[in-house]
Amino acid sequence: MNFLAPAVSVLVDYYRRPQDNLRLVLARFLRGYGGGDKGALTRTVYGVVRKEIALDRVVSLFQSKPGQQPPLPTRVLLRIAVFLLLYSDSYPEYAVVNEAVGAAARREKPFVNAVLRQLLRRKNEVVERIRRGDDPVLAYSISPLLLAGLRRLGAAGDADLEYLDREPVFHLRYHPGRLTAEEARKLLERAAIPCRELPALGCFETAAAGRFLEETERLGAFYIQNSGSQAVAFAAAARSRREVCDVAAAPGGKSLTLACLRPELRICASDVSAARLRLLEQNLRRLRLDNVRVFAADALDYPAAEARADLVILDAPCTSSGTLRKNPDLKGKITPEALRDSASLQRRLLDAVAVRFPRSLLLYAVCSFLSEEGEEAVARAAVPRGFRPVPLAPLLERYGFRVKQEEFGVYLLPSDLNNDLFYISLLEPK
Ligand SMILES: C[S@@+](CC[C@H](N)C(=O)[O-])C[C@H]1O[C@@H](n2cnc3c(N)ncnc32)[C@H](O)[C@@H]1O
Repeated sequence: MNFLAPAVSVLVDYYRRPQDNLRLVLARFLRGYGGGDKGALTRTVYGVVRKEIALDRVVSLFQSKPGQQPPLPTRVLLRIAVFLLLYSDSYPEYAVVNEAVGAAARREKPFVNAVLRQLLRRKNEVVERIRRGDDPVLAYSISPLLLAGLRRLGAAGDADLEYLDREPVFHLRYHPGRLTAEEARKLLERAAIPCRELPALGCFETAAAGRFLEETERLGAFYIQNSGSQAVAFAAAARSRREVCDVAAAPGGKSLTLACLRPELRICASDVSAARLRLLEQNLRRLRLDNVRVFAADALDYPAAEARADLVILDAPCTSSGTLRKNPDLKGKITPEALRDSASLQRRLLDAVAVRFPRSLLLYAVCSFLSEEGEEAVARAAVPRGFRPVPLAPLLERYGFRVKQEEFGVYLLPSDLNNDLFYISLLEPK
């Protein structure tokens, strides 16, 4: 269990600047880390953040002075130890307790020891209380705000909550014009990437993203894109005719898949962030796609001369609530204020795009299940501009997505395709 001290270090760093992205904090640490247990370290760091609500609740049960706040490193150490005791069976209990007490600051050792030994004495009762399921906030470590959003969609049953609380899987796409499915399968086999094929989507699914990233030389024909994100590109591919503007395109998943599926289309991929567009440019070069023109532009003030498209994609910035599996740190970050700000930007973007592209089909998407960012945003910004919904559910269901149809768009719910949750609305002008 040599990863205990490194895990404390990563998490203390993260909790000191909680607005930082956990993935980036961990990646920064791993670049200079020589230990051979990167997998256990990564699983523990993500697991602690994923289960933070439950872990803090458990620790509070055993604090002799309610509300007592030990120093941050001690709190983090306790979260890690409780996580390993309750959610992992890879380490003997005595080892977890001894190592955690050993790693605590001298003054904090009695406190850490007392909390963990009390937990061990009442472990069965605690596990029963967490897993009984009558308190989903505790059982699935999810905030009341997110739970309410899922309930609104009828997606807050145990199976859906458990789905969102799981470790993520990753989807690997390739350019079907450059590689057959058989060739893609063989390349992945030779690189020893365990995966399952999703033939309806034309991609592969793997839990071994780390292995994939170590093999980027050999697997240069592939790129990662979650199946939910692919759904947006499938809708665009089915409905565009000649020219598409993807006005919030970076880092570029939708444009890339659309360009692969419809190489004869002319695609303009823009984003307010030139830096974020670099990955798209690299991927276009790597996959030898020449039908995408990339440039920086603000969709709130999109250049009129560029506004020629029969279909415009607005994949708007959002809270990303639908990506909790790979971004468990969002569980605690999506506050009512963050949601309000995000929804306000989405309405402004929708309005600006509706005005700039008054005769184009408008494909609006967010990787969020919160209606303020989905159905409500469309109802408040695009519908008053005369846009009307075009049915999308039949197309997406043919791919195997589980969808919830609303008045103006659909939500992608948890499904066997392991998709992130999305809201997608296809709108046509008056
Ligand atoms: C959800 S991401 C887009 C993901 C992308 N479509 C893909 O498939 O990879 C939202 C993007 O909106 C961009 N953005 C934010 N405000 C914008 C604005 N005013 N104009 C254009 N892009 C903006 C962000 O830089 C970010 O890259």
